[in-house]
Amino acid sequence: MRIGAKIKGVIDRDRRVIFTTTREDFPFVVDHGAGDHVFDIEGNRFIDFGSFVSVYTLGVNANAQIRNAAKRQIDRLTHAMFADFRAELPVRFAEKLVGMFPPGFGRVFFSNSGSEAIEDAIKLSKLFTERPHLIAFYGAFHGRTMGALGLTASKTAHRAHFSPFPGVTHVPFPDPYRCPFNSGSPEECAKDAIDYIETNVLGKEVPPDEVAAIFFEPIQGEGGYIVPPAGFFRQLRKLADRHGILLVDDEIQAGYMRTGRFLALDNFGARADIYAMAKSLGGGFPLAATVARRSLGDTPAGAHAGTFGGNLVAVAAAEASLDYVRRNMRSLQSQVRRKGKRIMRRLREMEGRYELVGDVRGIGMMIGMELVKSKEGKEYAVAERDAVMKSCFNHGLILLPAGRSALRIIPPITMSDSNIDKGLDIIEDAIREASG
Ligand SMILES: Cc1ncc(COP(=O)(O)O)c(C=O)c1O
Repeated sequence: MRIGAKIKGVIDRDRRVIFTTTREDFPFVVDHGAGDHVFDIEGNRFIDFGSFVSVYTLGVNANAQIRNAAKRQIDRLTHAMFADFRAELPVRFAEKLVGMFPPGFGRVFFSNSGSEAIEDAIKLSKLFTERPHLIAFYGAFHGRTMGALGLTASKTAHRAHFSPFPGVTHVPFPDPYRCPFNSGSPEECAKDAIDYIETNVLGKEVPPDEVAAIFFEPIQGEGGYIVPPAGFFRQLRKLADRHGILLVDDEIQAGYMRTGRFLALDNFGARADIYAMAKSLGGGFPLAATVARRSLGDTPAGAHAGTFGGNLVAVAAAEASLDYVRRNMRSLQSQVRRKGKRIMRRLREMEGRYELVGDVRGIGMMIGMELVKSKEGKEYAVAERDAVMKSCFNHGLILLPAGRSALRIIPPITMSDSNIDKGLDIIEDAIREASG
């Protein structure tokens, strides 16, 4: 990659005026997107295997139908103050959205980001159950606003300086590759995780009738792309039902066709009571939705609202995006299945070939690859993972990290086979190089 004065200039100005966030130290200054590619301001071309952090699931720069819907809405009206006045567009979109959920759903609350969708779910679950306490998993990432951050427990850097977070208990997530209970099999690991909640949390720490909800990601994202054992969420559902506890499913990263289904939880044959969606939902615009089972009831007037939730331009884009998904459901499902297998096959070959590749896991096109110093010891290969990311970037592939030493492989599901293969070639070269 040619990194010239223009790029360095923007980075210097950014460092002076913008607070530091999570950016990896990559000299990527975006200019535009076209087809499967994104371009920086000096004309360097990249394949993005991160879908701009899981937003462009349907393709770079969304697609023409989504862009045109947003452009048309801009010319009519951009903002409706949907919490105070009514507008047909967000109502129509909500009707279409609940049609993607299991029967009995539901009511929708619109907001602008994943963290807000989780805040909304926290408030709804406390309101509906009249209970104060929440349970979440170690490794979880539910966002960075104070309520959501209380549920997040994937890196201490996220939480340092911001405590306390009262009313949340964290419990181990059944990671089949690194089972926290050292159980004999993934299914035993799932059972041990359920027993832990029952025995230690509900038995010793918080009375079950004080727990409003258990929050989870169907596949932990930021925590390392961890797919729990197949039966886990069915068992969690039973535990929740025994105690009248709600389940809140954070679909913000795993949802919206990424796994081949609209809701990633559907891969596990279980249902939640409240779902949170964001990222891909807005087709590139900020839009989040918290969707609850209808039987849970409604919110009292004045209890919850927000200025921009249901913004007309974001909803116009989201509606066009959802219409595209509904029209192309079969094709998208089969693309995810086929391309996911293609990626998985290639990564598994790498797993067999290189000591550095400890584990490859995922569903559909939500795939993680964990790098370890040795397959036997499973020591986190953090420096090697960072070197792989850097090398990929230098060769025109954007990759995102996950967990301590994993990589996320989440290209737009519309990416062509040939560009997927090019990206995988770049990854294999980088792994070979990092393996010494
Ligand atoms: C699973 C999950 N939940 C919540 C969030 C927070 O979303 P946002 O960054 O839009 O606030 C994220 C963001 O990465 C996420 O991956």
